[in-house]
Amino acid sequence: MVSTQMKSRRWDPVVKLTHWSIVLAVLANAIVTEEGSAAHVWVGYALAAILALRLLWGFVGPAEARFSAFPPSPRRALAHIREIRAGTVSEHASHNPLGALMVYAIWSCLLVIIATGIAMAGLPGSGERHEEGARTVSAQTVEADEEEAGEHREGGEHEEGPLTEVHEVAANLLYVLILLHIAGVIFETRRSGRQVVLAMLPGHR
Ligand code: HEM
Ligand code: HEM
Repeated sequence: MVSTQMKSRRWDPVVKLTHWSIVLAVLANAIVTEEGSAAHVWVGYALAAILALRLLWGFVGPAEARFSAFPPSPRRALAHIREIRAGTVSEHASHNPLGALMVYAIWSCLLVIIATGIAMAGLPGSGERHEEGARTVSAQTVEADEEEAGEHREGGEHEEGPLTEVHEVAANLLYVLILLHIAGVIFETRRSGRQVVLAMLPGHR
């Protein structure tokens, strides 16, 4: 975790690409697309796919991208805060322990947003819940699918409220986390003197 040789963090292309794609997708759905529109839902599916790739990468990617390189540890986060107070700076091959907590918080929030979003809109190809007659499932899956859909629909009428609510609250929480995340990145850049943001940009490996 703590490396003496590494002068700046290194992120592989998958971490960089998924980071900036997630940023784009979140901005698109927070600012550009109309809430619940087809565009919003498709950006949402794309976001889900990108996040899935990043999470898979957490198991099979290079050392610094793996979950094992930045375990969620309140104890180490506290130790990191003590370090900040003491004015010492140590090297981390991956996210620092405080940053790691933020990363897991952001991912958790995204997962809640994606889960509630998909619960409202359905899986791609399963037919939009909000549109009529758009079912495109194959004949074999119709039966099982309908059983499931029926179950969902039944509760769906009533559950749309709570799902929308959770989706919205999680989105608002995400915005707060993002502001803290950017503040943390700026703080860490100043404190450590390292080019934290450059390390996340293309060409700085
Ligand atoms: C970070 C990404 C996202 C953000 C910031 C976001 C944000 C929002 C917001 C603020 C609303 C309005 C909630 C309300 O009416 O109170 C909304 C609605 C909705 N979102 Fe998302 N969303 C995101 C991702 C997704 C995903 C991944 C899906 C599904 C694949 C999705 C599907 C929907 C649907 C279906 C609605 C309409 C809810 C309704 O009108 O009942 N969203 N979204
Ligand atoms: C929608 C807004 C954003 C979201 C959801 C977000 C989310 C994340 C996530 C999940 C990570 C962990 C990356 C990984 O391990 O895969 C991360 C890291 C990082 N983000 Fe963001 N980010 C956002 C905006 C930004 C912005 C605007 C900047 C630049 C100022 C930025 C700079 C960074 C940097 C430098 C790291 C690496 C931190 C480290 O060295 O430990 N992010 N971000």
